[in-house]
Amino acid sequence: MSKGLFITFEGGDGCGKTTQIKLLDEYLRAKGYQTLLTREPGSKGLGVKLREILLNYDGEVSPVCESFLFLADRAQHVDCIIKPALENGTIVLCDRHTDSTVAYQGYGRGLDLNQIHNLNKIATSGLKPDLTVVLDVDVETSQKRVGAEKDRMESAGIEFFERVRQGFLEIAKQEPERVKVVDSTQSIEEIHKQILELIGR
Ligand code: TYD
Repeated sequence: MSKGLFITFEGGDGCGKTTQIKLLDEYLRAKGYQTLLTREPGSKGLGVKLREILLNYDGEVSPVCESFLFLADRAQHVDCIIKPALENGTIVLCDRHTDSTVAYQGYGRGLDLNQIHNLNKIATSGLKPDLTVVLDVDVETSQKRVGAEKDRMESAGIEFFERVRQGFLEIAKQEPERVKVVDSTQSIEEIHKQILELIGR
């Protein structure tokens, strides 16, 4: 049994996760908690190499290959970084995790959702976040935030990002206990306040 707390942040590109996760990390540290801020894909080591391929490879990548690369990164991340930290009593804050594969490769690329759920289970050996915060923002706003310089994933079309957004909202509907949606068109301070209420610390 893990002693720590596992919190994941999810949402479309440009939803403001990175800003919010940093604010929460600073808040928890100031309160004396031991935290680990990490991300998928590519927190460190092998994952950094996988991230490089996933975001920058400029040749054709099949949706199934793409899924396996995200899942390979996840398996390594869970076993070598997340689980040891949780066993140590650390609060793990993870920028993207299993729900991103469901939303992007499942809803976005159209791969079979059941298969993705099963593959996620293998990659995580069944570990589930205690809480998942989905930062929801309309696609137009998120595209503006991402700007003109786009990586391989960010270069997918508007329709793709609409499906990804609906995917995250659907996940939240299916698992309302674990997954909480926060309106990310609000101010940074307001979003942070709502996240603290969800965390209850
Ligand atoms: P990143 O630069 O970390 O984007 P962000 O700051 O928006 O989190 O790039 C990660 C990209 O990879 C992002 O476009 C979402 C995508 N992704 C998937 O498609 N599937 C996954 O399982 C994960 C973890 C990420």
